[in-house]
Amino acid sequence: MTEPWGEMIRTHCCGELRKEDVGKDVLLAGWMHSRRDHGGVIFIDLRDREGVTQIVFNPETDAELHARAGEVRGEWVLAVRGSVRERPEGTVNPNLPTGEVEVVARELTVLNTSSTPPFVIEDGISIDESHRLRYRYLDLRRPEMTKKMIFRHRAMQQLRRDLSDRGFIEVETPMLTRSTPEGARDYLVASRVNPGRFYALPQSPQLFKQLLMVSGMDRYFQIVRCFRDEDLRADRQPEFTQLDMEMSFVGRDQICTLVEELLASLFRDLLGMQITLPVPRLTYAEAMARYGVDNPDVRFAMEIVDLSDIAAGVGFKVFAGAVSSGGTVRALRGEQMADKLSRKDIDNLTDLVKIYGAKGLAWVKVGADGAWEASPIAKFFSDEERMKINERCGAAGGDMLFFLADTVKVVCEGLGRLRLDLARRFSLIPAGRMDMVWITDFPLLEHNEEEKRMEAMHHPFTAPVPEDVPLLETDPLKVRAQAYDIVLNGQEIGGGSIRIHDRDLQQKMFAALNISAEEGESKFGFLLEAFQYGAPPHGGIALGLDRLLAVMTGSTSIREVIAFPKTQKATCLLTGAPAPVDLRQLRELHLKTDVPLEKGTP
Ligand code: AMO
Ligand code: AMP
Repeated sequence: MTEPWGEMIRTHCCGELRKEDVGKDVLLAGWMHSRRDHGGVIFIDLRDREGVTQIVFNPETDAELHARAGEVRGEWVLAVRGSVRERPEGTVNPNLPTGEVEVVARELTVLNTSSTPPFVIEDGISIDESHRLRYRYLDLRRPEMTKKMIFRHRAMQQLRRDLSDRGFIEVETPMLTRSTPEGARDYLVASRVNPGRFYALPQSPQLFKQLLMVSGMDRYFQIVRCFRDEDLRADRQPEFTQLDMEMSFVGRDQICTLVEELLASLFRDLLGMQITLPVPRLTYAEAMARYGVDNPDVRFAMEIVDLSDIAAGVGFKVFAGAVSSGGTVRALRGEQMADKLSRKDIDNLTDLVKIYGAKGLAWVKVGADGAWEASPIAKFFSDEERMKINERCGAAGGDMLFFLADTVKVVCEGLGRLRLDLARRFSLIPAGRMDMVWITDFPLLEHNEEEKRMEAMHHPFTAPVPEDVPLLETDPLKVRAQAYDIVLNGQEIGGGSIRIHDRDLQQKMFAALNISAEEGESKFGFLLEAFQYGAPPHGGIALGLDRLLAVMTGSTSIREVIAFPKTQKATCLLTGAPAPVDLRQLRELHLKTDVPLEKGTP
C-alpha cells in the first residue's frame, strides 16, 4: 500500500498564487483553516506557512468530491489538485495576497485528520498564555506566530551575512564549561566521569571570545545561547540568544559604528525604516540625571529636573532635609495633566514610587497664574520659591509637577518609573518609532548593599577609562568603565566594553573586587595565563537578539519571538521540564537530593 502522499509534488505553496497563475493546474497541500458552505458550493481556506488559498468545491461538477469536502474538519491535513481561476466580481478579497484567485478542486486527498485543537488557529486569539505554551506547536501554526519565526530567521541570516562580509568569522564555543561571571546564578551540570565536579552552562561566551582574540581570530561572532538562573521578567529568559561579537585592535567608536550599521540595515531591510546615524550617545551620568534610568526611552521628552539647589533653602523640611543629608530633590513636569489625574490616580502613582523606596510623592497642580492649587505641600512654599521652581520646571497653567526628595538612587529610580508610567497613561510614546541611544561611561564598579561587597557593573574584564585607573586604589566607585550599552525604545538590547588585555591591570581589577590572588588564579588563571602570550587590545559587545526582535516585531514579551520559551517560573509547559529523574541517574552522577521524591519518580 502506498502512503497517501505517494509521489505527489506540490506545485505552489498556499500563499503564492496570483492573477498571473489563472488557468494553471496546481497541487497544494496544507491545513484546513476554515470552511464555508455557500448555497451548495463549499469554500475551504487551505493554510500553510506562507498563507491561505481558497479552494472551491462545486456539487454540480463533482457531487462525490463535494460530499467529501463537506466531511473535512478544522486542521485536517489535505492535498488538493485543481485549476486556478479568477474570483468572480465582488468576491475578491483585497486583504489576502491570494485574494484575486481561487482553486477549483478536482482531487482531494486527506493526508491526516486532526483532533479538535484546544484553541482556534488564527490571529488575535485571547486565551491564557499558558495554554498557548502548553500547545506551542499549534500556537506557532497561527499566522502571526509563523510570521515572527520567519522574521527571526531572516534577521539571523542577514546578521550572519553582514558580519561575514565584514570579515567576521563565526566560532562556536563550549556549552559545558566553567562558570563565567556575568552576575547571575549558573546552571550547573554534574559530571558522571568526574565525581563531585560540575560544568556550568555559559552565562555568555565572554572568556572564550577574549581567548579567541589572543588566538589571533581578529573578528569573531556567534549567534549563541546563554544561560542565566535569575529572576525572570517579561524581558528575561533563563536561556536566551545573543549576537556575540569581539574584535581586536579596535576602540569604542569602531564597535559602536559597526553595531549601528548592522542595526540600521536590519531596520531598513526588514521593516523598511530609515535610521539616522550616528545613534546619539549619552553618558551614564547624563542618562540617570535626565531620565532616571540607564535604559531611557528617548521616544518622548519629559525629562527630570534637578531642584536641589533651590530645595536646599526652602521652608519645607522634607525638601531641605533631603538635600542637607546628601540627597536630592528632583521633579517631573506633567504637561497639561492637572485636570486629568484624580486623587486616586495620584495615590496609585505614589504607590508606584514607593516600590522604589520613596517615602512619598509630593505634587502640585499649577494654575493659570502659576499658583499651586489643591496641593498639600503648597502652604510650605513662599511665592518666590514657588516661582523659582515653576520657572526651572518650565511649568505653565494646567501642568502638574511631581517631586521626590530622597537619596539620588531612590529619586532617579522613582521618577524614572513615574516618567514611563505617565507616558503610557497619557499616550506620549509615538507609535512606529525605533529610537536608539548609546549609554557610555558606566561606573566600573558598584557596591552591592545586600552582600556588602564591590561588584563589577558590567563584568570583571571591562577596562577602566585610562585616566581613571589611579582611582582604582583610592576611590574605586568613581572609576568610569569603557563600557557601553545600546538601548532601543527603552529596552537594553546590547552591552559591551573594551577589555583589559594586561595581566597586571586585570589583577588590580580583581583586587578592587576583593578577589584574592589565589581565587583569581583558580577561577580565571587560564585567562591571566593567556594574557602573558601577546594579548592584543580588544573589545566587543553582545546584542540580546530576543529583545531586539521583540521590539522590532512590536511584541509584548520576548517569549513571543522564541519558538519554545519558558514561563516566568523557568518551566517548559510543553515538555514538562524541569522534571524529576531516576534515582539511578542521580547515583550515576554521584548526586543526592534532600528534596522528597515526587510521586511517580521511578
Ligand atoms: P550582557 O550581560 O549585558 O553582556 O548581555 C548582553 C545582552 O543580552 C541580553 N540579555 C538577556 N536577554 C534575555 N534574557 C536574559 N536573561 C538576558 N540577559 C541579558 C540583553 C543584554 O544587553 N558578555 C557580555 C557582552 C560583552 O561584554 O561583550 C554580556 O553578556 O539585551
Ligand atoms: P508630610 O508633611 O510628611 O505629610 O508630607 C507632605 C507631602 O509630601 C505628602 O504628599 C507626601 O506624600 C510628600 N512626601 C513625603 N516625603 C516625601 C519625599 N521624600 N519626597 C517627595 N514627597 C514626599
